[in-house]
Amino acid sequence: MARKAKTKAQLHLVVTAGPTREHIDPVRYLSNESSGKMGFAIAEEAAKKGHRVTLIAGPVHQETPAGVDRVDVVSARDMLAALKLAFEDADGLIMAAAVADYRPARKRSGKWKKDPSKPGQEVGLALVENPDLLATVGKRKGDRCVMGFALETSDGLRRAFGKMQRKNTDFIALNGAAALNADSTSVTLIARDGDQQEWLGKTKKYVAKRLVMAVEVWIASKSATRT
Ligand code: CTP
Repeated sequence: MARKAKTKAQLHLVVTAGPTREHIDPVRYLSNESSGKMGFAIAEEAAKKGHRVTLIAGPVHQETPAGVDRVDVVSARDMLAALKLAFEDADGLIMAAAVADYRPARKRSGKWKKDPSKPGQEVGLALVENPDLLATVGKRKGDRCVMGFALETSDGLRRAFGKMQRKNTDFIALNGAAALNADSTSVTLIARDGDQQEWLGKTKKYVAKRLVMAVEVWIASKSATRT
């Protein structure tokens, strides 16, 4: 992919969005519930602010926001490859994708057929763990800003802090299952130092603006301490 020149104030922000799809056979797959709306809203807001944006998207029905470089991927491993590439010269990452934690241990080359001689039979599907994309890039994030998401159905704050530590992120945006496929969401943004900001029942567009702003402020304060 050809690299575009950046102006001084312009950041290169990488945003991931949507689910990943882990194929069982050519016609079936495992996936996560995710419309991609949050990630696309973030990419749109970042581009509107004049940043260079690489949007790595799983299979979703969303239009590419103006001014955004979109890379379409299918599986978690595809997303990891695209992410590693884009992250190389990035200033920040916002990881809104709903990555599938497991994939089938093998993908069948042909359609998985029922055995007509065994009606009602129980079948099993062996799964293996996918790489953790955020933890992988978090390990070598250096002074880049990394924001992860956490979708929790209980004990949210404690689990979100745990994820921030395990994946070495600077922020975690915590939300609940009500955000899935919806146009609005409730998010608690947790920073490393424990600082928290909360937006309840706001549009994803509104939250996207705040998340981009948090990344900008973090990067600006880092570069101020360096000069
Ligand atoms: N994530 C990732 N790679 C994975 C799984 C998750 O990069 N294999 C990222 C998500 O994009 C998100 C963050 O990690 O930014 C947290 O994702 P979440 O699904 O809430 O947590 P998991 O790490 O998958 O843990 P669990 O499913 O046990 O809650």
